[in-house]
Amino acid sequence: MKVITSVKDLIATRIEIQNQDKIIGFVPTMGALHQGHISLVNISVENNDLTIASVFVNPKQFNDKNDFENYPINHDADIKLLEAIGCDFVFIPQGDDVYNNYSGIKMDFEGLDEIFEGEFRPGHFQGVVDVVYRLFDLVKPHRAYFGQKDFQQLAVIKKMVKCKELNIEIISCPIVREENGLAMSSRNERLTTKQRSDAAVIYSTMSRIGNGMKVGDLTPGHVDIFIEELKKVADMSPEYCVFCHPDTLQEIKKVEKDAVIVMCVAVWCAKVRLIDNIILEF
Ligand code: PAJ
Repeated sequence: MKVITSVKDLIATRIEIQNQDKIIGFVPTMGALHQGHISLVNISVENNDLTIASVFVNPKQFNDKNDFENYPINHDADIKLLEAIGCDFVFIPQGDDVYNNYSGIKMDFEGLDEIFEGEFRPGHFQGVVDVVYRLFDLVKPHRAYFGQKDFQQLAVIKKMVKCKELNIEIISCPIVREENGLAMSSRNERLTTKQRSDAAVIYSTMSRIGNGMKVGDLTPGHVDIFIEELKKVADMSPEYCVFCHPDTLQEIKKVEKDAVIVMCVAVWCAKVRLIDNIILEF
């Protein structure tokens, strides 16, 4: 695997690949890689001629300085993991190379950036589309892989691709969980062993509520149950719980026949903010 550390080298490599007519799969990440990220790279390696991953902790998408400063960085381990599964290139830019001469994009989010995660993390999705658009432009992939773990991010990226008429297929990949059900996340590293074990309550409560729901149910009652159940557990403070449409993310108040609904939650576990979601089919 080749490690690329500058925009100049990335462009040169991409031109070389394009001249060979190779199909490029791209997996953007912020590093501190775990099996969730690795699953995306595995899917890309399997389905494309070449896979390029990126590792860049994008300052623009952090609304919380403390979160940015504490974001785990582990380039050596990331490189080893990617190499072991047959990733072809990893782009690990240095300094502000990525944003040199680029100030971001303008697009109509049609409100997607203001709800749920957007409400609690102002400017977050603008920062995400800014960096992903730039990376897409540099890498020019045929396909790009994103985790369903960040459900709203996926919806925002799909909207960006449509708005900007990019010829890139966005592939949504399933959530990888720890043995106890906790969705894998780089932020889990900041939990104590006990918190990591207690945080299993997020997924178990979502599953229990989701499995118990039926056509005709009103969702606000289920939101209240989730919030109350989580509040009972030490260190857990739920921020939101919503039931929404998988594409528009519009809130759904009543379960209709044949509906597909995503239950999305954000929960603070002590000082670490965790998000998760499950898809419910009726
Ligand atoms: P990061 O949080 O590093 O995640 C990179 C990709 O891995 C995202 O598509 C995310 O949804 C996926 N992912 C994370 N945990 C996962 C899990 N448990 N199961 C499956 N997929 C998982 O998301 C970002 O970085 C950034 O916003 C980025 C898109 C790179 C832009 O900076």
